Amino acid sequence: MPSFSTRTSGDLVADRRYDYGDAALVDGDFAAARDLFAQTLELVPNWPPAHFALAKACIGQSEHAEAAQALHRVLALDPADRLGAAVLLAQIGTAAPVMPDAYVASLFDEYAPRFDGHLVEALKYRAPETLAGLMHQERGAAMHFAAALDLGCGTGLMATALAGHVDAMAGVDLSAGMLKVAEAGGRYNRLTCAELLGFLKGEPASAYDLALAADVFCYVPDLAPVLGEAARVLTSGGLFAFSIQTHVGEGVIMGADARVHHAPAEVRTWAEAAGFTLRQEVTVSTREDRGVPVPGALFLLAKT
Ligand SMILES: C[S@@+](CC[C@H](N)C(=O)[O-])C[C@H]1O[C@@H](n2cnc3c(N)ncnc32)[C@H](O)[C@@H]1O
Repeated sequence: MPSFSTRTSGDLVADRRYDYGDAALVDGDFAAARDLFAQTLELVPNWPPAHFALAKACIGQSEHAEAAQALHRVLALDPADRLGAAVLLAQIGTAAPVMPDAYVASLFDEYAPRFDGHLVEALKYRAPETLAGLMHQERGAAMHFAAALDLGCGTGLMATALAGHVDAMAGVDLSAGMLKVAEAGGRYNRLTCAELLGFLKGEPASAYDLALAADVFCYVPDLAPVLGEAARVLTSGGLFAFSIQTHVGEGVIMGADARVHHAPAEVRTWAEAAGFTLRQEVTVSTREDRGVPVPGALFLLAKT
């Protein structure tokens, strides 16, 4: 993790200007915000949050070239990209969709303590239950798995949805904060803090008869290698159940909600190329955003 704090620049006057700028940003007064962030940067030119905030003010004024310049400055100061400058660059269309590991880890570390309550109650999140329902349809009420791998397991809601149906559950996640909550739940035999593709590559072939990814692929732009590795670690006939956030166009885009949206047709093609048979595909929203259902789809694949 980089050494800068997101809460303070270390200069009280600069912090005050930054806070005023932030308030102007919230109010939609982008010109004032831009001016205040520029003043902040005169005092603390190497503080990434001020460059990041300046970029947001520029985007508010549709000044994308200036925003991109500020975002490249953030990346130069913090190559790990804890703030997600690359996500904003993709949003304004100056770069391909990408999700920096440090950004995802920091986002969910901060979210972890209130994740379950906020997501399930306020955002009506139900991907784990809906995916479990699909598996029930496929395998019957007495379905049973010897070894499951939960990719982006978060706090463990997927393990709860499948309780009693899995002998051993492994979970992998980028966020140590989320894993702490999952560990406290006691449903996983093994939890690993890692990026999921790298983790999959290190697992032996045919080690699992079930792989899961609930509301995770909206943080993973390129699913082709993930599907390939998932197929490798599954036994023949093993299932891979996951959700995606969708869009009506082609390919993969970075949405205005800072999440990756996949075209279902692309996912189907990747799945087939990886050696999966499509067992079920359901168009369904599993979460709301500001009261509006988020377009999505569930996939249930079987290793051919
Ligand atoms: C919205 S949460 C969903 C958590 C859980 N699957 C559930 O259904 O409650 C997304 C989780 O995916 C993790 N994540 C996102 N991208 C990841 C990646 N490339 N590797 C590992 N974990 C990732 C995040 O840290 C976060 O915990």
